[in-house]
Amino acid sequence: MIKKKNIFFTKYLLKYLVKNLNGIYLDCTYGMGIQSKKIIENISKKGSLIAFEIDSENFKLLNKINFFLFNSCFTELNNIKLESKISGILIDIGYTVNQLKDKFNFRKNNFLDNNIKGNKSVINLLNFKNYKKIKKVIGYFEKEFISKKIAKEIIILRKLLFITNFSQIKGIIYKIKKKIFYKKNKTNIYRNVINSFRNYSDNNKKKILNILNLSSSIILKNCNIMIYYFNSFESKIIKSFFKKRFDFFLLKKIKSNNFFLKVYQKK
Ligand SMILES: C[S@@+](CC[C@H](N)C(=O)[O-])C[C@H]1O[C@@H](n2cnc3c(N)ncnc32)[C@H](O)[C@@H]1O
Repeated sequence: MIKKKNIFFTKYLLKYLVKNLNGIYLDCTYGMGIQSKKIIENISKKGSLIAFEIDSENFKLLNKINFFLFNSCFTELNNIKLESKISGILIDIGYTVNQLKDKFNFRKNNFLDNNIKGNKSVINLLNFKNYKKIKKVIGYFEKEFISKKIAKEIIILRKLLFITNFSQIKGIIYKIKKKIFYKKNKTNIYRNVINSFRNYSDNNKKKILNILNLSSSIILKNCNIMIYYFNSFESKIIKSFFKKRFDFFLLKKIKSNNFFLKVYQKK
C-alpha cells in the first residue's frame, strides 16, 4: 500500500509542486525522505529545500548542501527566518512504514506512548485524567455509547493496575464487544480507539491548523500547497480551513485507494 502511495505521490509531486527550479521548497513531514529526495533532484543548486521531521528515530539524512532538515515539529517554521517566500509546500500527514511497523503498531501489544518530542502522554491520560476527559478523547473517532463504556472500564481497570500497553485496552474492547454484541467488526473499534489515542497524543488538529496558517502566509502567488492525508478527520480540518481562505483555490483533488491528495494554489 505504501509503495503504491509513493508511486502515486511522486507523479503528482513533480507536476504540481516543483515549478520553479531556483525556488525554496518546504517539506513539512520529511519521514524517510522519499519525497524530499525527489524534490531536491528536480531543483537547481540555486534552489533549496527545508524539511521538518518530529521523530528523531525516523529519518535518514539527504547529503546535499541545499538541503536543511530540522528535527522538530513543523510549527517551528514560525521561528525560521526565510530569505524569501516559498515556491512549494508539501504536507504529508500520517506515518512512515517504519513507524507503523514499530512504534505505532498497537497490534503488537505495544506501549501506549511513542516518545516523540512534544507529544502528549496517553499513559498519563488513561491513568490520571477523569472519566469525562477519557470519554471525550475516545469519542473523537468512536460512537458515544462505546466511548462511554470504554472510558468507564478504563476507570475500573486503573484501580487494579497501571495502564501502559494497548493489550490492556484491547481486553476492555473485547469484553465490551461481547457484552453489547456489536455488529461492527471489533477491529474497527480497535482502530478507532488507536486513532483517538494518536490524535490526542499528536494534538493534530491544533498542529495542522497551525501549519496551514503558516504555509498560507509564506507561499508565493501561483504556487501550491500539496497536502496528502488518509482520513476524514484530517479532511474536515483542511476543508474548513481553506473554505475561509479566498486567496486560495483547490487546483486538484485526487483519491487513490485510501489516500487523498489536495493541491491548493495561492491566487
Ligand atoms: C507519512 S510520513 C511522511 C513520509 C514522507 N513524505 C516520505 O517521503 O518519506 C509523515 C511523517 O511526518 C512526521 N510528523 C508527524 N507530525 C509531525 C510534526 N508535527 N512535525 C514534523 N513532522 C511530523 C512523522 O513522524 C512522519 O515521519
